[in-house]
Amino acid sequence: MGKKMKIGILSAGGDCPGINAAIRGVGKTAMVDYGMEVVGIANGFTGLLEKEIIPLNESLLSGILTLGGTILGTSRLKPFKVQEGDIVDDKPQVIKQHYHELGLDALVCIGGNGTQKTAWKLAQEGLNIVGIPKTIDNDVWGTDVTFGFDTAVYIATGAIDRLHTTASSHKRVMVIEVMGHHAGWIALHSGMAGGGDVILLPELKYDMETIAGCLLERSLKRKPYSIVVVGEGIKTPKNTSAGAFIANKIRKKTELETRETILGYIQRGGSPTPHDRILATRLGALAAQMIHEQNFGVMVAVKGNEIVPVPLKEVSGRLRLIQPDNKMVAMGRQIGVCFG
Ligand code: F6P
Repeated sequence: MGKKMKIGILSAGGDCPGINAAIRGVGKTAMVDYGMEVVGIANGFTGLLEKEIIPLNESLLSGILTLGGTILGTSRLKPFKVQEGDIVDDKPQVIKQHYHELGLDALVCIGGNGTQKTAWKLAQEGLNIVGIPKTIDNDVWGTDVTFGFDTAVYIATGAIDRLHTTASSHKRVMVIEVMGHHAGWIALHSGMAGGGDVILLPELKYDMETIAGCLLERSLKRKPYSIVVVGEGIKTPKNTSAGAFIANKIRKKTELETRETILGYIQRGGSPTPHDRILATRLGALAAQMIHEQNFGVMVAVKGNEIVPVPLKEVSGRLRLIQPDNKMVAMGRQIGVCFG
């Protein structure tokens, strides 16, 4: 019998619902199916720099499927960038050294775009890496969808539903800013699911005259309230929040009573939806299988109904944004949604 493999798991970047489900998926498959030893690395790449590990066993992985956040902690430390507060000069070198000192045979990196880029760089440095995509923003290249997104859309849609009732009672325009960074996936999906009247996406140019025209036309059609869903990454000339900026402009241009809500971190917290739990578990299980098969330098990804490995090289440094010919945008336009 060969030596028992020892693998490390870390989560890096912004947290999102489903990370624990993914940790459980990797860990249980690795332990139960492949007899591997599994350790957690604390706080993203910081844990590798500081050699801080969290021992894991089957019972420690029980009861975390439904838990939001990450039991391993996370950080935004970027090993290949010089950052404020750096404690060592050559971070990649120290990480490599600690990877070997910990006796790791492979490292699973759960994270978004930044993490997958780092994962690819570490793979090029000779470490055995498997990436698992995660983010509420849904913008990781190479996968159809990321876990965390479904939960964020569910939360944002629930918030829009609640704004609808207060908007209609007070006959107001309600502007809601949702997360997504440079990508408009959360805005598009929650906006469509919540029946938004205006949806503004970072990927599409908008024009305040058009938006004001849509809202005034609605009020003339005896629809005295409107919902405006704004992706946080839309272009604004000033350094203000996108939601506040748009609400101010609407007030000035239409004189309609307007309020803004910035949904914020609520979208990232709490328990994952069943969809995200299953997706994270499937991705985790394939990540363990990739290690068993010694298929390194890959990220596990969703392609149609399948979970497949894709080369980290293809993923690294790219963003999956909404394209101008997006079918949901076209369908939204057909039913009268204003995209600005
Ligand atoms: O990438 C996830 C995300 O929640 C974005 O939607 C948001 O712009 C960003 O992280 C917030 O980052 P931080 O946690 O650094 O405030």
